[in-house]
Amino acid sequence: MPAATAADRVASAVQCASQARRETLNPTTSFMSQPIIAVERITKQVKDSTGTLTILHEIDFTLQPHQSAAIVGASGSGKSTLLSIVAGLDTPTTGTVKLAGTDLFSLDEDARAAVRASKVGFVFQSFQLLGNLTALENVMLPLELQGRSDARTQATDMLRRVGLGARLQHYPKVLSGGEQQRVALARAFVVRPAVLLADEPTGSLDFATGEKVMELMFELNREAGTTLVLVTHDQGIAERCDRQLHIEAGRLNALGGEVLGRHFDMHRG
Ligand SMILES: Nc1ncnc2c1ncn2[C@@H]1O[C@H](COP(=O)(O)OP(=O)(O)OP(=O)(O)O)[C@@H](O)[C@H]1O
Ligand SMILES: [Mg+2]
Repeated sequence: MPAATAADRVASAVQCASQARRETLNPTTSFMSQPIIAVERITKQVKDSTGTLTILHEIDFTLQPHQSAAIVGASGSGKSTLLSIVAGLDTPTTGTVKLAGTDLFSLDEDARAAVRASKVGFVFQSFQLLGNLTALENVMLPLELQGRSDARTQATDMLRRVGLGARLQHYPKVLSGGEQQRVALARAFVVRPAVLLADEPTGSLDFATGEKVMELMFELNREAGTTLVLVTHDQGIAERCDRQLHIEAGRLNALGGEVLGRHFDMHRG
């Protein structure tokens, strides 16, 4: 996706957090009685010089609260596009995404951003840290936008937990790729979101650091009930998740014997 567009999206994702306290979800909605994520017949098409490109074809799946799912598939198969749509950061051509019962694309951009800010932590494949803020300030930002007085303490603690206690005052441009990825993870974890969507969260990390980060994610999943959706090329990580959503050329297939959507076709070539 073009960098400017991605930057707009991260700005929207982070800056609109100030509206998070305005509860936009139906107060009668119970997380226990319905899927936290319901994706129905999502199709994404874009126009280019050669015509219309269909990136996603009628994707269906649901996730219950506390579940974890891995989105796996080849490069270019549509994983990041799907994750962005689930977060409401990108819009589908057709189909719906319900987050805790709220139909994201029936809302205007501001209301969608408010739902996202109150429920979703998002880790971009390209990190999308704010370059004029230190590591600590990047992680404090979502807490400050929620009006939290303990932002500095919480952000410092989270950066220590991802192994960056000695990098608090560094700006993104002087951090390594793996360090930037861990700041991005800390920024997403620090608000303990109901849903954590992470695009190749260990893609830039060595094995030991990746393991540590994965432990943190599954700890959030166990202790805070955070629903995890992880795009990954790592089969070991995929196998730790409750569900695997296998995407091939924009179509969902299933691994682990589970039929995931009404359009699933085991015999499709
Ligand atoms: N805005 C766009 N305009 C044109 N093509 C696009 C656009 N966004 C995505 N694509 C194309 O859609 C396909 C899926 O892209 P996507 O980034 O979702 O893949 P991916 O599965 O995340 O790949 P990777 O594993 O390499 O990150 C790619 O072929 C990409 O070039
Ligand atoms: Mg991708």
